[in-house]
Amino acid sequence: MASLSSLNSPSNISHTTALSTMKSILFIGGTGYIGGPILSRFIERDNSNLNLTALIRSPEKADKLRKLNLRGLNVVIGSHHDATLVERLVSEADVVFSMADCDDLQAARSILRGVKRRFEVTHVKPILIHMARTGCLGDGAQGAFSSETMYSDLDIAQIETLPVTQPHRNVDLAIVEADSQGYTHRYIVLPGLVFGTPHGILAREGVQNPTNLALTALIRASFTRGAAGMRGDAKNIIAVADVTEVADLVEILYDSVIANKTEIGHGSNGYYFVSSADVLFENLVEVIESRAGKRRAFTQEELDLYFPNLPSLQGFFGDNGRADSARSRALGWKPVKATEEFLLALRDEVEHWQL
Ligand SMILES: NC(=O)c1ccc[n+]([C@@H]2O[C@H](COP(=O)([O-])OP(=O)(O)OC[C@H]3O[C@@H](n4cnc5c(N)ncnc54)[C@H](OP(=O)(O)O)[C@@H]3O)[C@@H](O)[C@H]2O)c1
Repeated sequence: MASLSSLNSPSNISHTTALSTMKSILFIGGTGYIGGPILSRFIERDNSNLNLTALIRSPEKADKLRKLNLRGLNVVIGSHHDATLVERLVSEADVVFSMADCDDLQAARSILRGVKRRFEVTHVKPILIHMARTGCLGDGAQGAFSSETMYSDLDIAQIETLPVTQPHRNVDLAIVEADSQGYTHRYIVLPGLVFGTPHGILAREGVQNPTNLALTALIRASFTRGAAGMRGDAKNIIAVADVTEVADLVEILYDSVIANKTEIGHGSNGYYFVSSADVLFENLVEVIESRAGKRRAFTQEELDLYFPNLPSLQGFFGDNGRADSARSRALGWKPVKATEEFLLALRDEVEHWQL
């Protein structure tokens, strides 16, 4: 029989009880290309029971947001490199959306310390929804071949074969560990290459990043050198997802967690791939070369010139990274924008490109 003290211990306090008192949500990276539509949704939905806080690094964006005088939104200026600030803000939140930089282990550690502090005070497990990417699936193909390997977010054994040396995997594993230590419920969302025009109040008001900086950097490099850029023969296959449909998944995931659906995977079961299609990198190159110039593989010197200090992005352009979003779809996520929409969006960007 359980002792009285064990019945009262934090681990026995039900998740339902915890969520019924939930009020505060913290957004880190809410002005980003991906984070903007997500923060917008929480501003635009019925948020009367929610106290929203956004950590914004840019004083100009913070000022614009404050001037909008949005109900329920508290704007804090600061960097996620400010460990004390991040730890405090997180320790005051029931839910944290971490969407700034999935490669930043120090920032993730600050978030995890804050989450732990919150748990120690409330004895309720805060919810951490962390934005990562399918970069961790990369196979080092350097554009030389198309892989048959398809990772599934339901196949945890397969995901666990990914070594800690894969892009952002060290951060993902630190977050998984926090879940297994029992002081947070964490969910990792992993989109493929994200495309499309963001919608929502932050996009309308010009507060968020309007384009995918990685894709923009590839297009810019291609125009600058007068040749569509690629790794090797561009035979690698990547996962893609529309930016609005990424926000759809995040909102579905949040609502499912709040509704306390018991089947929602978290911790080592909490990976959610966001991929609506696989695209051969060569198809992407075809679109870019139609205006930027005939394709030519990047040399390492060019990669370092155009994408300095970004080894994981350099690798991503040549990696296979195919992702089956089975767990995400099982939650009810139904993406409709696939290869055709991705290539159309890319064509539109390339056609309007001004160097
Ligand atoms: N784009 C993709 O295709 C893609 C796909 C899958 C996953 N991801 C991952 O998702 C995350 C977000 O990507 P994104 O495309 O939305 O990037 P992004 O447009 O560069 O947005 C990053 C967000 O984080 C904020 N931020 C950056 N450094 C910060 C700091 N030191 N302190 C506080 N806030 C900071 C940015 O603020 P500012 O508004 O001031 O810039 C912005 O709000 C990244 O980890 C990325 O790797 C991206």
